[in-house]
Amino acid sequence: MDQKIKIFGFAGSLRKDSYNRALLRVALESVPGNAELEAFDLEGIPPFNQDLENQPPEKVKEFKAKIRAADAILIVTPEYNYSIPGVLKNAIDWASRPYGDNAFDKKPVAMMGASVGMLGTARAQYHLRQSFVFLNMVPLNQPEVMVPFVADKVDASGNIKDQKTRDKVRELLEHLVAWTRRLKNTQ
Ligand SMILES: Cc1cc2nc3c(=O)[nH]c(=O)nc-3n(C[C@H](O)[C@H](O)[C@H](O)COP(=O)(O)O)c2cc1C
Repeated sequence: MDQKIKIFGFAGSLRKDSYNRALLRVALESVPGNAELEAFDLEGIPPFNQDLENQPPEKVKEFKAKIRAADAILIVTPEYNYSIPGVLKNAIDWASRPYGDNAFDKKPVAMMGASVGMLGTARAQYHLRQSFVFLNMVPLNQPEVMVPFVADKVDASGNIKDQKTRDKVRELLEHLVAWTRRLKNTQ
């Protein structure tokens, strides 16, 4: 049997009751049998300072090492002011530096996001895709998982029980695994 595909995932929200963290939990519960998913918390990553890029903080070293060890990346993004949150961009910036030491280089990546509005992070996700160009990542195009009106889709404990959303997340993971295997086979 092929080795399991190692997926490393993180959400761009630090909020305790974050819907996007809840969406990442759905992914943890939906990982296909031929893959594994580790979730990482961006809490504790300080604001990026280029003076420190050659001696990054421990949390950033850990983040970069986990990205490098993964076969594929899963990013869960909220939408802030029609773009991705600073917390997420900041973490991505750290992991991409110093120049020539970009941990994301050539990694397959999938994204998803949940918002309280009607477009379900669509605008943020297209901004994120733009950064993948300079990061030299290999994004999965479809399915697109944009969860609108997410406040109506959580239960009293803040978990996303909506079956349509859960099915989409599972489908995204299945496609990410297939995409990652395909890329590995062409190396
Ligand atoms: C600074 C800020 C900007 C926001 N901008 C948008 C936006 O552009 N589009 C949108 O759909 N929701 C926007 N929202 C609402 C978010 O969808 C909502 O706060 C959501 O809960 C954030 O994700 P989280 O629950 O994972 O923290 C914004 C929220 C904040 C705090």
